[in-house]
Amino acid sequence: MALMIFLVLLTKITIGICVTPKPIPLNYGNYSLYTTVPTEAHQLKFLQNLETEKYLDVIYWKRPVKLYYDVHMLIHNTETEMFLERAKHYNLAVKMNLYDVQEAFKNQTIRQYVRLRENSFNFDNYHSIEDIYQWLTDMSTKHKNCVLLSIGKSVEGRDIFVMSFKNGVKKNVIIEAGIHGNEWIAIEFALYLIDKLIQEKAFTQAKKFNWYIIPILNPDGFAYSHTTDRLWRKNRRPIGKEFGVDLNRNFNYNFRAYSSSIDPRDDEYCGPEPFSEPETLALKNFLRTLKTIKYYFSFHAYGQAIIIPYGDRVKHMGDYSEMENYGKQAIIKMFAANRSKYTIGTIYDTMGVKISGNSASWVKRVYRAKYVMTFMMRDNGTYGHALPADQIEATCNETLAGLQTVMTAQARYVPTNLFGSSTSLNNNLLTFFCTLAAIAIFVVKL
Ligand SMILES: *[C@@H]1O[C@H](CO)[C@@H](O)[C@H](O)[C@H]1NC(C)=O
Ligand SMILES: [Zn+2]
Repeated sequence: MALMIFLVLLTKITIGICVTPKPIPLNYGNYSLYTTVPTEAHQLKFLQNLETEKYLDVIYWKRPVKLYYDVHMLIHNTETEMFLERAKHYNLAVKMNLYDVQEAFKNQTIRQYVRLRENSFNFDNYHSIEDIYQWLTDMSTKHKNCVLLSIGKSVEGRDIFVMSFKNGVKKNVIIEAGIHGNEWIAIEFALYLIDKLIQEKAFTQAKKFNWYIIPILNPDGFAYSHTTDRLWRKNRRPIGKEFGVDLNRNFNYNFRAYSSSIDPRDDEYCGPEPFSEPETLALKNFLRTLKTIKYYFSFHAYGQAIIIPYGDRVKHMGDYSEMENYGKQAIIKMFAANRSKYTIGTIYDTMGVKISGNSASWVKRVYRAKYVMTFMMRDNGTYGHALPADQIEATCNETLAGLQTVMTAQARYVPTNLFGSSTSLNNNLLTFFCTLAAIAIFVVKL
């Protein structure tokens, strides 16, 4: 008997420790992460041909779209030599950021949640969907300031949860994360925000808003990225022999027009029609229950950018410049927090592509919501989707600083020379300003 109690205690203790993820069947151990920036037309063409002609085994994390936009790609080790030789032929400088992508995924440690120990759920490790759902349930039972609501079921029957914090005010803010299964850091941010709101430590003005936080809009894709394929992005809709619709192409906004494939094998397969998927439909139906939406923020990874609608436009539309002003103030705060550099613009400005059928553009159009922004979180391609667990906390902390700024900012003068000719922060100037702690002086109220 005593021995049994001892064993039970022992298991209780040991499950609290950090474990590396279970081996993932789809192994990226033979892939290395390379980055490069094409600056001449023939270099861009070479990179684009790699994808279309499929003569090398390449997985793009950031596609070659335009000159001077960086490209992030996984190259299979058996083809490194050929790739480097071709790159040299085109005078293209490439940099290897990760030798073994699978090894880098191992640093995305997952910590188990011990129900009786609330502080075993923290942000120096990633989490499984089972633990996240258990934690959300426990938190909503234990704390009176939040309510957990299921707004529908995924293709495979998992709940889609919203954690709400109602403060009896008019301003509703929606936080949408985990629409893409492989973007783990976005999900951690939503949980981090929930944790801070529970503790009333998010930011001083947080009670001026009703919060509706959807931490995992795509639970099946997220679960699959843990069990089977770390890079799985879409939901898990079966389509013949293939699986998955890109939920962020499935909204009824210029459906199927840009960065949307009609081939179910593709990562950006948009589905047969708008809202064909239970996950996007659940979100649509949930939003309809709210009278107004003033703030809608979607969280993605990776790329370090604040993106302003519309996804399918080159031109800056509507209240773009006001949003850009708030976004730039946020970027200055994010830099001040951890020296992380974010860019700002439309998706076309920041990534060089147009997209449509995405949630942010749809909400902006249909709800005429003013504050609609997408945060592309860390990093810039150093680790890419393999962002190590020891960066979760800092990433969440700077993202919250940015979010707070956008939600509470007044229009202010932001010196244009802080941002480069493009939309990216000017490194030298910013470092200089920060060193002098002078940003407050330069960002004067209008
Ligand atoms: C990416 O960020 C890291 C860390 O902040 C920095 O050292 C590196 O220079 C950045 N890379 C690029 C290409 O900007
Ligand atoms: Zn995404």
